Amino acid sequence: TIFPAIMCGGSGTRLWPLSRALFPKQFLPLVNETSMLQDTMQRLPKGCASSVFICNEEHRFLLAEQVRNLTDEPQTILLEPEGRNTAPAIALAAINALEQNDEALLLVLAADHVIENQQAFHQAITTATKVAEQGKLVTFGIVPTHAETGYGYIKQGQEQALGSYKVAEFVEKPNETLAQEYLDSGQYLWNSGMFLFKASRYLEELAKFRPDILQACQKSMTQVSQDLDFLRPNKAAFLACPSESIDYAVMEKTADAEVVPLDAGWNDVGSYSALWDVCQQDDNKNVVKGDILAHSTTNSYLHSQNKLIATVGVDNLVVIDTPDAVLVANKDKVQDVKKIVEQLKADN
Ligand code: GDD
Ligand code: MG
Repeated sequence: TIFPAIMCGGSGTRLWPLSRALFPKQFLPLVNETSMLQDTMQRLPKGCASSVFICNEEHRFLLAEQVRNLTDEPQTILLEPEGRNTAPAIALAAINALEQNDEALLLVLAADHVIENQQAFHQAITTATKVAEQGKLVTFGIVPTHAETGYGYIKQGQEQALGSYKVAEFVEKPNETLAQEYLDSGQYLWNSGMFLFKASRYLEELAKFRPDILQACQKSMTQVSQDLDFLRPNKAAFLACPSESIDYAVMEKTADAEVVPLDAGWNDVGSYSALWDVCQQDDNKNVVKGDILAHSTTNSYLHSQNKLIATVGVDNLVVIDTPDAVLVANKDKVQDVKKIVEQLKADN
């Protein structure tokens, strides 16, 4: 059985001021009427076990309410007192799934991705399921379109019988020169950040490469406390866990990784330019949300929550109006929005 594990602990700082510490992007209806988390739930293939959500303590009510809007079934919500990145988050979900089923397959999903073609996504999961049943750690690979440094790169090795490929090399977040080399070589895929493997295999690999993370997570889960749908791993034990992503902790190191290519209109909506890409654009290639008057304006993302935004004779701009903050940015520089958030944190 597939146990979906939905990771909801990110902060989405590059989408400030829409995305806030107390209301990060996965809980926002950025692309559709429903939130990105709800879209993630709705695109799960049929026949899965009920999902496990892993998120930060402070977002528990937000998460629980959005989940309850879609289903009446009881849920499992694993609460981290503080984020320790994805390797521990996935370890908690794996330990939880194993308690229910020795053969549990964990389908690890991010709560903040866009996938346009559900059918292609489901097909890739079907292939990945067979591969994962053989004990492999499967990632879903995306054909890269530019030298993005915020992603993991997977060198596509030999094709396997079930339609997957060996991972010849996994490089998390390479520098710009390397990313360009990988792109030019035509041999690399982006890591989508979604994975499928036996829960037991993930924990075995973690035991090999990061026993410290595994031990902290196991300890915190042996003293877990439950309250309604909320499961709280032991706080002190979890806080003692090192912070690391699955990509560095396991995927770069394991010899058992395989990649299933995914061509399904995937986008991780990391920034305003990515958001502009996936939203409906008008004839002038503007995305407009809320009260907007755009005159001779092109290629822009304009989003108003509060006031009328009027633009004249501008191109390639991002303008975001919220009740307490306004952002105006060059659409080519939107990766740096996180610098503003860092500055704000430093000033507080
Ligand atoms: N529960 C929990 N706890 N979830 C977390 C935590 C945490 O501490 N940190 C991150 N997440 C969630 C985020 O909400 C997101 O859904 C997912 O885990 C991935 O985390 P990101 O922080 O967005 O990772 P990334 O974008 O830098 O890199 C990953 O995704 C890329 C594709 O989008 C990597 O897997 C890359 O290799 C990959 O290319
Ligand atoms: Mg991300």
